[in-house]
Formats: sequence, structure tokens, C-alpha cells
Amino acid sequence: MPPTLDPKQVQQLLEAAREAQQRAHAPYSRFFVGAAVLDEEGRIHAGCNVENAAYPLGTCAETVAIAAMIAAGGNRRATAMLVLGDGETPPCGGCRQRLREFAAPDTPILVADRERVRSQFTLDQLLPMSFGPEHLSK
Ligand code: THU
Repeated sequence: MPPTLDPKQVQQLLEAAREAQQRAHAPYSRFFVGAAVLDEEGRIHAGCNVENAAYPLGTCAETVAIAAMIAAGGNRRATAMLVLGDGETPPCGGCRQRLREFAAPDTPILVADRERVRSQFTLDQLLPMSFGPEHLSK
């Protein structure tokens, strides 16, 4: 069973992702995304997508949120992530792998619109049979 999430924390994740979405730099796609990561210490780290005129250099909201968690210090473990777009925006494959580095197979990933959480998955559901740091130490 995935860890149960405190509804208050879900609300905080939603609000943090919503605020971050408003700061997205997405003039090319006009697709604005916010993300928020909850760490093991209960702190929330938010991110938004940051596009670039050199298109391939754009960064996803989830990547920015994960980087914010790392930059904040602490033990670097994500216990939940919420992704928020206009409509249902599941995290892209690259961001699933980035989260994999700092989360467990049963870490919940919430997919939300601006009003509410619309679906919930575990990391393992979205990234089965995944490769991670432990494979390198074999
Ligand atoms: N995007 C994200 O930020 N997260 C996702 O999970 C899907 C896509 C961004 C990347 C790009 O700036 C825009 O949405 C359109 O793909």
C-alpha cells in the first residue's frame, strides 16, 4: 500500500503547484505547468516549467521542483509529488526517471488541475521495471 497522504498536505501541495504554475515561463507552448514535491521532513518544494527560445533547453516543472528540493538540503527524499496543468498533465518520462532517483516505488504522484486532484498513481505504476542508483552498485 502506498503511504497515505494527509489531506492537509495534499492541499498545500496543490496550492504550491498552483502558485508556481502562475510563474511558469512558457511563451512557446503556452502550456503552463506547476509541480510540488513533499520531502520526508514535511517541506514542500515547488517548480514551474521554464522554456527557452532554444527550444530543447526548456525544463519541466517537475524537474525544477526536484532541483529545488536538492538545493534546499536535507535528506533528499521525496514522499509525494503533485503535477498541475490545465487539465490532466501526467509527468513526462524524463521527469518520472528524475523522481525515481529520490523516491520509493510506492511514492504517490498526484495529477491535478487548478481545482483538485484528478488522479493518483505510485511511481512504480508510472515507471515499472525502472533503473536506479542501486543497479550501478551491483
Ligand atoms: N511540461 C512539464 O512541465 N511537465 C510535464 O510533465 C509535461 C510537460 C512542460 C514542458 C513544456 O514547457 C510544456 O509543458 C509543453 O510540453
